[in-house]
Amino acid sequence: MRLIIKGGRVIDPANNIDELLDILIADGKIAAVEAGISEVNTETIDARNKIVCPGFIDMHVHLREPGFEYKEDIVSGTKAAAAGGFTTICAMPNTDPPVDNFVTASYIVDRAKILGVVNVLPIGTITKKQAGSELSAIAELVDAGCVAVSDDGKPVVRADIMRNALEYAKMFSIPVLSHCEDIDLAKGGLMHEGYFSTIYGLKGIPTAAEELMAARDIILAELTGAHIHICHASTKGSMDLVRNAKARGINVTCEVTPHHLTLSDEIVGSYDTFTKVNPPLRSSEHISALRAALQDGTVDCIATDHAPHNFESKDCEYELASFGISGLETAIAVVMDKLVNTGVLKINEMVGLFTVGPAKVLGIDKGSLTLGKIADISIIDPEARKVVNPNDFYSKGKNTPYKNMELKAWPWMTIVNGQVVYREGKVI
Ligand code: DOR
Ligand code: ZN
Repeated sequence: MRLIIKGGRVIDPANNIDELLDILIADGKIAAVEAGISEVNTETIDARNKIVCPGFIDMHVHLREPGFEYKEDIVSGTKAAAAGGFTTICAMPNTDPPVDNFVTASYIVDRAKILGVVNVLPIGTITKKQAGSELSAIAELVDAGCVAVSDDGKPVVRADIMRNALEYAKMFSIPVLSHCEDIDLAKGGLMHEGYFSTIYGLKGIPTAAEELMAARDIILAELTGAHIHICHASTKGSMDLVRNAKARGINVTCEVTPHHLTLSDEIVGSYDTFTKVNPPLRSSEHISALRAALQDGTVDCIATDHAPHNFESKDCEYELASFGISGLETAIAVVMDKLVNTGVLKINEMVGLFTVGPAKVLGIDKGSLTLGKIADISIIDPEARKVVNPNDFYSKGKNTPYKNMELKAWPWMTIVNGQVVYREGKVI
């Protein structure tokens, strides 16, 4: 099987490429990246006026399988990923049962191989049943293919357990992904604690709930020399902690989400439960700090924290609604429209944050268009305009606060393993 992608603007930050070039894919691998490739009888994709990138990686996705297939499953979730321009996603382990052993992790790997439209890399739990008291068998999880461990959805409350997790993860050269939340400080909170929580009469979650845990985990990373990765960092204080720790040589990385970069706590005044997410949408001061941290390299990657929920979980009082935003299918368009098209991020930086950035955090051999590598490619149409309509989502989770928003610059084509899996609105 050979395929030529012709005439696109190829942006490959890992190789410092930003040029009008052609790409030849042969046997599922990148066979050539140069100008003027043409072959008779080889299928050719006209990518003029498109942006051709290494396949986007989303290292924080809730696929909900096993146990919550009514919210999402491997088929619907990987279709949503393909439609969102992602070629590789990491599956968070807060399922039922949680991914805390070899068998469950293998189930995800096997199911994804058979049914998945994109690459799925599982993440195992830090503690058994995510109960916070006993470490999972991390060696087994790594053996089954887990690329990281995380109790995401909840913090690891005990510092001694977190310390041990870091020691073990270090032996296997995998990062520990931390959901930073002091549950006592955050208890009962529904939105960011600040001016708007007072005005709206909703209990707030202080920024300190996140920052206390980020600080603790950075200190434990320093103690152990292990790699701590801060999930969905959302505050100015977290950015300062990570920036400072990096400057001191501590092995810390972090991700931010498209929603924390683009939506503020003011919109919670609609009482639309689709704005309810953990950590909560913050004030504009924090959004500015996250954007500055993207620009100065404090942030390693953008990840969606795709958290699909069923209709009933959100069709209720704000207080009772589940936390989470279905993010896979809007992430690229949101970041392009709100950050690239407005000059906050250069396109090359944006591509890096979705490719080589997450690949480095995970230590995986992906995120570039280097010759000989597997041909995972994402192509963006920078001129495409579309109104977000969750009814068109492949994801079962229709819970998006971007509903009815018009965005410019959308995924156009997604290629996984040399195969076109998404093309102009349709998963193939
Ligand atoms: O909003 C969230 N939803 N935050 C989390 O940490 C977990 C996630 C979920 O699993 O729904
Ligand atoms: Zn999450």
